[in-house]
Amino acid sequence: MAKLLVGNWKMYPTLADALVLAATIRRSLEELKGVEVVIAPPTAWLPMIIDSWHHRTGHIHFAAQNVYPDDQGAYTGEISAYLLRSMVDYAIVGHSERRRYQGEDNELVNRKVHSCLTWKIKPILCVGESKPMFDASHRLDSYQWSKVAEQLMEGLAGVKADDLGELVIAYEPVWAVGTKRPATAHYALEAIGRLKEKLHEKYPKKAIASARFIYGGSVEPGNAADFLKYAEIEGVLPGAVSVKARDFIEIAKIAAAI
Ligand code: PGA
Repeated sequence: MAKLLVGNWKMYPTLADALVLAATIRRSLEELKGVEVVIAPPTAWLPMIIDSWHHRTGHIHFAAQNVYPDDQGAYTGEISAYLLRSMVDYAIVGHSERRRYQGEDNELVNRKVHSCLTWKIKPILCVGESKPMFDASHRLDSYQWSKVAEQLMEGLAGVKADDLGELVIAYEPVWAVGTKRPATAHYALEAIGRLKEKLHEKYPKKAIASARFIYGGSVEPGNAADFLKYAEIEGVLPGAVSVKARDFIEIAKIAAAI
């Protein structure tokens, strides 16, 4: 299966910058085979970017950086999966920045996962520990691990085995997000292995194999291959470098070549 590359633009680009960035990505990656590219611009810019593209291209998709779990109602400033469903194929849910700054808990994240699934948006569920859970000799900090395991299991509460194929689990150690201190590939592999083991408590092997597991946290062109060369790491989720056209395009080419 093609590797997945998700660019989280966060709250970086202005509308003018976003239009240029999207056009550059499209022009450069439209013909690139062997990688599935997802871009997550600030939500307000989505309609303008989509309009400027005239038609969708097969393997470049849009994602929301967040969704509200209820469909419609008196929720000032929010936008739901229901309202976004014609614009995006994916949505990032439970990103550590939202957990930290907006106080999102696992229960809310779980409602978002369900809402996305209802409206045929693929949720990219982010989980990760705030302090390293493995030390240099790979001993596990069981408290940090328990937090990640909770994010995973509570985030997926009520999700049926058949729906796991729609899901992307982004393992994003919080200490590596936006810090230029990525986890090593070995570390990410170990964590993803544990996440799969944990899911075995609830789901059959086949269902777990249908979900995609990706890594995020200070991914850049210089380290992307270290992660992507492993079959168990099915994609990467860069943030800061995803708004630098050249870097993002380079990562896409690295992913396609693997
Ligand atoms: P970063 O962000 O690549 O800047 O660390 C990753 C993310 O948005 O999750």
